[in-house]
Amino acid sequence: MKRRRLKKEVYYVFAGLVIFIIALTSLIKHINYTHSYEYKFLKLGYEKAQVEVILNLKDKQLDELLKHKYDKNITSFIKQKYFIFSNLDRYLKYQKENKSTKLKDIVSIVNVHADHEWYDEDAIKDTDTKKGTMMLVNKFYHLKEDYVPENIVDASKTYAYDENSATEETISAFKKMYAKAKSEGLNLIITSSYRTYKDQDRIWNSYAIRESEEWADAYAARPGYSEHQTGLALDIVTYKSTMDNFDETPEAKWLADNAYKYGFILRYPKDKENLTGYDYEPWHYRYVGVENAKKIYKEGITFEEYYAYYVENKD
Ligand code: DAL
Ligand code: ZN
Repeated sequence: MKRRRLKKEVYYVFAGLVIFIIALTSLIKHINYTHSYEYKFLKLGYEKAQVEVILNLKDKQLDELLKHKYDKNITSFIKQKYFIFSNLDRYLKYQKENKSTKLKDIVSIVNVHADHEWYDEDAIKDTDTKKGTMMLVNKFYHLKEDYVPENIVDASKTYAYDENSATEETISAFKKMYAKAKSEGLNLIITSSYRTYKDQDRIWNSYAIRESEEWADAYAARPGYSEHQTGLALDIVTYKSTMDNFDETPEAKWLADNAYKYGFILRYPKDKENLTGYDYEPWHYRYVGVENAKKIYKEGITFEEYYAYYVENKD
């Protein structure tokens, strides 16, 4: 009898222990889950599908995002191809103030700093010249007065009008492009290229005096803000045309379709003034190297957008 009771007691203790372990494990599981990002974002009000999008972010970004209130636009922004996490607050702010602008366009505008006025002192940075052929110079990124590129070489008369020069790499890439165009019966000629800070100062001031400062800003960069100071920019036309009617020539079309194969990009494309700060300039090409030029051409983006996402964002 005694033995039997003992057996029964052992059985109860054992069963109790099992139940206790099961309960403890599920409690631990639950506690762990309440510490998970999934739980925290669901708690903030996001739906499961939105949480899935959010969980693609890095842990540091997730922690940062947890400080934000629920906003349905956040996941829509994260889904954009060129989304940059550190720009999120500016995307949201721009969206609030410009309700009819597409999210894709907001991402581009903010990434290139065009949510600021051109030349806005709060947005201006020094150009990172260490980036070499990928350095960005525009209305927000400027070069110092004493910046002079290395390896500036003269362009010979075959390739350019008088007094033109650019970096060795730029000239050598242009020569290859020139030869291919020539073999197809087309003539390219460099009409403007490397300009010093002082050259640009002269150009901008002459425009400002002749017309107005607004006019000068629309057509020329202020000194220190011109890509021509990098030695990587070429203004290309044909003997039969000037800049004004270059767009109508077969050479302009050929360049637009083929320059990327030689490492050049059309720097100020049509209808992208809100991103580049300049109207369409069919003659202005920028050397970035073949690999980058191909990518920029294929993705159909401006250099500003490319730089923000693929160059600066990687720092
Ligand atoms: N026209 C180009 C933008 C320059 O002045 O650099
Ligand atoms: Zn130019």
